[in-house]
Amino acid sequence: MRSWAEAERAEVGRARLRVSVLVALAIALMIAFVGGIAYVVMVHAQETQVSRELRYNARYGVPGIAPRCAWVFVLEDGTLHEGDLEVPRGFPLRDDIDAVHASRGSIERDVKANGTEYMVLTAPGADGTTVQAVFDLRYQLLDRAHLLLALAIALVAGLLLAALVGLTISRRTVGPWAEALARQRRFVTDASHELRTPIARAHLRAQVLAAGLPADQRTDLDALARSIRGLADVVDDLLASAQLQERRDRVPVDLTDVAEAAVVGETERATERRITVLLDHPGRPVLVGGIETGLRRAADELLANALRHTPEGGRISVSVRTVAGQAELVVADNGDGFHPAEAERLFERSHRGPGEGRFGLGLALVREIVTGHGGTVEAVGRPGAGARFTLRLPLAEAGLPVGGEHMTGACP
Ligand SMILES: Nc1ncnc2c1ncn2[C@@H]1O[C@H](COP(=O)(O)OP(=O)(O)OP(=O)(O)O)[C@@H](O)[C@H]1O
Ligand SMILES: [Mg+2]
Repeated sequence: MRSWAEAERAEVGRARLRVSVLVALAIALMIAFVGGIAYVVMVHAQETQVSRELRYNARYGVPGIAPRCAWVFVLEDGTLHEGDLEVPRGFPLRDDIDAVHASRGSIERDVKANGTEYMVLTAPGADGTTVQAVFDLRYQLLDRAHLLLALAIALVAGLLLAALVGLTISRRTVGPWAEALARQRRFVTDASHELRTPIARAHLRAQVLAAGLPADQRTDLDALARSIRGLADVVDDLLASAQLQERRDRVPVDLTDVAEAAVVGETERATERRITVLLDHPGRPVLVGGIETGLRRAADELLANALRHTPEGGRISVSVRTVAGQAELVVADNGDGFHPAEAERLFERSHRGPGEGRFGLGLALVREIVTGHGGTVEAVGRPGAGARFTLRLPLAEAGLPVGGEHMTGACP
């Protein structure tokens, strides 16, 4: 299971990355947008300019003396005048000239040839002639390529700048949050640490008191000692997960034991309210790899919820089994139930049933514990027809060291 500090560091890292990527994306989009507009404007201006020149040449141009990169061909009385200039291969477009000569309409087209692009206008000229004006776009294409290159360079430079700006911004925005989380963790560490000694003393005192009593009068004090011991486990867990380096190793935990302990822990409350709690297990260990205190807390919480939502005389069943290579712990009751649409929301922090005056944290913690163990938890219910909570956990890998009860320094 990941420690609290590790999860916190990962979350802060993710937030930083998100802010950096968003800032970089915004700057990149801006550059691409401005560049795109510049490119479109430039292409449009070039096309207008070339089209104007073509029209001018078609009207006033004379074969052989047209300006650079432009040619004019004239069909006059069946003779095609090309002038003395060297003509690009494939020109003039004789088919267009004949078509215009026949129809007296005009044709304008782009032609890709000789490794460049030409704009060609074929139109009727004066005195029954037909004129074809050709413009080689190579310099315009070169200008466009230069602009694209400049844009690409600006984009790369912009992205680098954006990454730097993103990092700075993310540091500034995420910094205070990370600081607050660290402060919270320090508080939990200090508080848990301070609680360990009084809890250890209380546990010891309960044990000493119990030892001084005859065996038949010790039951309540033993139960008290067990509860204090559970409290110490919780505090130890908090301390371990809040400290940076501590990471408890997983050990095989018997889910049957966990379920049994939860049922035993609630026997008194169940008897008081005449609720029958049934325990069903395969009679052999069902081992999952994990942290026993965490799993115990999850099972306790499910059973405590079930007791709270089951009316007097009701029934609760706690069952453990192995299904499809997974361990399953099911706590089902025939109490209040809930609306099926609510099922997912029950696991949200602070989701409480109406007017119950509780924290609404229990199921959120159950889910954290279970997902931390690589498992899932599912809730199924119907109003007035009871609820069923199913924990599914991977079975323990063979070869894990077998763990027992772990009781750290707090209580001897
Ligand atoms: N067995 C159940 N039957 C019906 N509703 C349930 C059952 N278990 C939980 N719920 C519903 O889910 C809600 C959330 O449960 P959760 O354990 O997270 O909080 P809580 O028990 O209200 O408070 P906390 O556990 O923090 O003391 C409950 O308030 C209740 O509405
Ligand atoms: Mg609860």
